[in-house]
Amino acid sequence: MQSRRFAKSNTEVSDIGLGCWQFGGDWGEVSDDDAMATVETALDAGVTFIDTADVYGAGRSESLIGETLKRRFGSAESRGDVFIATKLGRLKGYPDGYSLDLFRQCCEESIDRLGVESLDLTQLHCIPPHYLEDGEVFDWLKTLKRDGLIKHYGVSVESMDEASECLNHDGIASLQIIFNIFRRRPIGAIFQRAADKGVSLIVRLPLASGLLAGKFTKDSTFAEQDHRNYNRDGDHFNVGETFAGLPFERGVELADEIKPWVPQGMTMAQFALRWCLDFAQVTTVIPGAKNPMQAQANAAASDLPPLPRALHNKLATFYREQVASEIRGAY
Ligand SMILES: NC(=O)c1ccc[n+]([C@@H]2O[C@H](COP(=O)([O-])OP(=O)(O)OC[C@H]3O[C@@H](n4cnc5c(N)ncnc54)[C@H](OP(=O)(O)O)[C@@H]3O)[C@@H](O)[C@H]2O)c1
Repeated sequence: MQSRRFAKSNTEVSDIGLGCWQFGGDWGEVSDDDAMATVETALDAGVTFIDTADVYGAGRSESLIGETLKRRFGSAESRGDVFIATKLGRLKGYPDGYSLDLFRQCCEESIDRLGVESLDLTQLHCIPPHYLEDGEVFDWLKTLKRDGLIKHYGVSVESMDEASECLNHDGIASLQIIFNIFRRRPIGAIFQRAADKGVSLIVRLPLASGLLAGKFTKDSTFAEQDHRNYNRDGDHFNVGETFAGLPFERGVELADEIKPWVPQGMTMAQFALRWCLDFAQVTTVIPGAKNPMQAQANAAASDLPPLPRALHNKLATFYREQVASEIRGAY
């Protein structure tokens, strides 16, 4: 497992992390045992960056991570170099009830569920953009950092306008962005500025909700409580989040087109993860894994060789000519 430096700190994090939204119920059923075995397997494979949020299962995802760390290390505080990123702003206060007191309460509750003394990183969780422009939320986060509740703070954003706005503020350690073979806009929009400011980029949706694993057909179906069923056309939250904003059937066609380009010796999911890692400006990529097998396979992408330059160029042309115009939602 390779690692990269987190923001301007001395902390190194694995370049493949583990996303933990799927332990919250929005990806169909994942049992407590499967969730904890998935986290364990990721840690065994060298993953040291875990992403969660208070809203995932209304605390369930954080609690399961806390419980796994306790079982493995005796206490979450003894977790060594394992870095836990969480988020606030969606479980409580959304969309217009934020305050310093509410943020403090959210952090204290996350600390409690994770079993840590302070949060390694909390991220504003896709809160309405006007809060980012106004900027008072960043003063509150600075206060919570000064008070020792959080070590770093960052923002998870939906669009590149939001990401650019965040880069106007000092003190942010990280931006969490949607970035994958089907979503290249961040490269031109923010990569250079983020690198210049020492802001880490955390990449979500590297598999475009599983499309880039190349395993779906147009007839694939999803559980009733899976967002790939209930939010596929943005009926519940940003349409750009599920399947990276692509209409499902078109997404399957596009994934099928690039499937023959996957180099020998890697799965299509690993190819998609490797593509993200080939950009030095990316700090860590956080695929969600629902079982130990996926966690293990995803972690292995870290040590695969970079993709050939010609393949990167071919994928850039493919994106420009076939994908860009199909993306819906905030981008
Ligand atoms: N607003 C936000 O801040 C926000 C929003 C979304 C996500 N996130 C974070 O990002 C993380 C990643 O989620 P994502 O939405 O970005 O999705 P993703 O990583 O693109 O896709 C994850 C899904 O792909 C499938 N998968 C994973 N590994 C696989 C493998 N090796 N082979 C085949 N299929 C595989 C699994 O579902 P199936 O097996 O059921 O297909 C898994 O749940 C989340 O857990 C969360 O931490 C944050």
